[in-house]
Amino acid sequence: MTQYKIPVIPGDGIGPEIIAEGCKVIDAAGERFGFDIEWVEYPHGADHYLKTGELISEDTLAELNKNSVIYLGSIGDPRVAPGVLEKGILLAARFYFDEYVNLRPIKLLEGVWTPIKDKTPKDIDFVVVRENTEDFYIGIGGKAGRGTSKNLLEVSRSLYSAKFGLDIETDSEEIAYQIGMISKEGTQRVISYAFDLAEKRKKHLSSVDKANVLSDIYGFWRKEFEAIAAKHPGVTTDFNYVDAMTMWFVKNPEWFDVVVTPNMFGDIITDLGAMVQGGLGLAPGGNINPKGTSMFEPIHGSAPKYKGQNKVNPIATIWAGAMMMEQLGEKEAADAIVSAIETNILQAKVRTYDMGGSSTTSDVGDDIARIVQGK
Ligand code: IPM
Ligand code: MN
Repeated sequence: MTQYKIPVIPGDGIGPEIIAEGCKVIDAAGERFGFDIEWVEYPHGADHYLKTGELISEDTLAELNKNSVIYLGSIGDPRVAPGVLEKGILLAARFYFDEYVNLRPIKLLEGVWTPIKDKTPKDIDFVVVRENTEDFYIGIGGKAGRGTSKNLLEVSRSLYSAKFGLDIETDSEEIAYQIGMISKEGTQRVISYAFDLAEKRKKHLSSVDKANVLSDIYGFWRKEFEAIAAKHPGVTTDFNYVDAMTMWFVKNPEWFDVVVTPNMFGDIITDLGAMVQGGLGLAPGGNINPKGTSMFEPIHGSAPKYKGQNKVNPIATIWAGAMMMEQLGEKEAADAIVSAIETNILQAKVRTYDMGGSSTTSDVGDDIARIVQGK
């Protein structure tokens, strides 16, 4: 029996309810495939923050960093100002663990309704590789009033650091600015990851940018993409402006195999991707550091209005759990979990309200766990 120790951060809102179902299904898979998991729970999130004032400490991050995977519910709570928990916990973890790939499969499962007319599971099956540590997400910027002022902005990563010393002079009443930055190292590694993934799939890679307007930052992205493409002659490629991309996701999802995108555009297009694949309740994601700590979570948020109601769909979280088990090398268990999700959907008996049913979160978890065990 293989033993794993996996840290779990249930987080806020519906996080604890959906994570409980994910752990339940993975435990069921363990019984069948011969592994046992010790779940180590971490309290980080709104309650912990409101009680202690702590978001997540450097010591906790260092301790978590010793693991190869982490299972995360969702972060965000209306009692705390927007961005505090998201930046202080979720983004802090993504950056600390240098999880430079945010992997988001956009796959329409059999039996799931898509709002896109005439498209079927064979048309909607691609993966978005979202850069996850740079771009406008580095979180540096500021405001300046009329006159002259200075600001010093810093980004610190294990890969590199960068400092911007700004001398500001404006006659506007007030300006606000945010620096988006990408690095050669950061861009190359995520694009290389996407090419490697495309090599293992249908050998097509689509790049997303806005090089026609934000030409310094995304022109740079495009040039790096071209240089890496030259090393992968077996992979066909195309470039897409992000605005057009939102159109193609809806009109021609069958064109895509792997899509690689800078961070912010990736955030936006993967919510669209989630709808294309049947809704946020069905969209999993993994924050990947291929050589370090990876963190798996549903791509949806904490849905505070549903907290504690045992109502929401746990499938995104269960699927993210399957991705986590695959990362740990338990491919058979991962496949069995995804296939159990598909069976649950096809049987159409136990489903949550978003899929037209009236079952509870835990009913769906129980049903998928039962199917995983072959009962
Ligand atoms: C996501 C979320 C996060 C993001 C938020 C909660 C910081 O929207 O994972 O897509 O913007 O990356
Ligand atoms: Mn998002």
